[in-house]
Amino acid sequence: MTTKREHFGGRIAVIMAMAGSAIGLGNIWRFPYMVGEYGGAAFILVYILCSFILSFPIFLTEAVIGRRTHSNAIGAMNQLAPRSFWTVLGYLSVITPTIIVSYYSIVGGWSIEYFLKSFSLDFGEFRPSGWTPLLFNTIFLGLSAGIVAFGVKAGIEKFNKISIPLLFVLIVLIMVYALNMPGAEKGVDYLVKPDFSKITGRTFAFALGQSFYAMSLGMGIVITYSSYIHKDENLVASGVGTVLAALMFSVLAGFAIMPAVFSAGIAPSSGPGLVYQTLPHVFTGMGASSPFLATCVAALFFFSVIVAAMTSSISLIEVGVAYLVEEKNFKRSTACLVIFAVTWLLGLASVFSIEVFGKVDAFSSNFLLTAGVLLVVLFVGWKMKKEDVRDEITNHGKLNNGIFEVFFFLVRYVAPITVITIFITNLVL
Ligand code: PHE
Repeated sequence: MTTKREHFGGRIAVIMAMAGSAIGLGNIWRFPYMVGEYGGAAFILVYILCSFILSFPIFLTEAVIGRRTHSNAIGAMNQLAPRSFWTVLGYLSVITPTIIVSYYSIVGGWSIEYFLKSFSLDFGEFRPSGWTPLLFNTIFLGLSAGIVAFGVKAGIEKFNKISIPLLFVLIVLIMVYALNMPGAEKGVDYLVKPDFSKITGRTFAFALGQSFYAMSLGMGIVITYSSYIHKDENLVASGVGTVLAALMFSVLAGFAIMPAVFSAGIAPSSGPGLVYQTLPHVFTGMGASSPFLATCVAALFFFSVIVAAMTSSISLIEVGVAYLVEEKNFKRSTACLVIFAVTWLLGLASVFSIEVFGKVDAFSSNFLLTAGVLLVVLFVGWKMKKEDVRDEITNHGKLNNGIFEVFFFLVRYVAPITVITIFITNLVL
């Protein structure tokens, strides 16, 4: 390794970067719908439970690997378990995010297109595939890779430190507006009415899958970002901050989106349909009575989606870039260019076919991600020395000693069993 490694400048910077990766399309287009469909407040409870009992310890296992080795995902596994089966985890951790960013950035591109369309309030029909999406995808991907090229501190840290607070302000503004629309209560009911009868085994599988995706687990991101965390930083505190930020944003997004959807008398949907079909209807409807306000709300909303998606795609790109810089001695700018080119080429398949897009999304978020999570918990729970794990979580006995045993138990037994169950559920469903 020839390069001198950079570090994030403190806990706030770590939490902002991790939250930037976590907060994204998953929180905006999947979470609100899942809440409504799977039991309202009851689902939120299940989700919080899953986040703290499983996603949080899993987040910490990745953080342990990253911070202990101060290395990219492949380098980290080569250090901890050289020439063993476990290096697969390193490769998977670099391949998965590179595949994900190839379609994630297409959605980022749609958001730029819709942001521009907000100014005329003329959204037209939703055209997810073709030359226009390719153009906007290129812009979105180029901007994301460009920010990564500036480096960990001047690029990633700086962008997240501005974007995350801004995103919270924007989503609260939109929420206040939405909650004051006529008939907004029905949207609130949809999100909060607890219905425990809707909670089944499947709900748990969905809640967990969503929680893993939302926390960006199982794809080398937490490993890579944690490798930029200082030795004396408290990993547990950074993890709690990240879980809370992602959770809060999901709930706020729900209360910003669903009241508006119900106020317009439209049935809610999930996925791209919610953001690029349902909401444009809502904005156009609003525009009939107050075009200026509708334009502002629509533009602010799509701007937020662009920023939320960009903070996530930056984290996806950084995983591959860190690998190329550290293992292959690339210059950072060249590495960014290479990852840009590879993901752009991969994305061609998804940008011209929405079926391929759906398949790539399902394959990576159900299969690759779950496999990554499973390997990482097995590695930290069973292969690494328990004392090494303890050292990392407790900073050599200085912190968090009380929770270590609980954490380790969850990682060793509860997490693998649950993840295998989800894996099977995903295959069968
Ligand atoms: N966590 C992001 C979201 O909820 C998505 C994401 C997935 C980001 C994977 C990075 C990696 O949208």
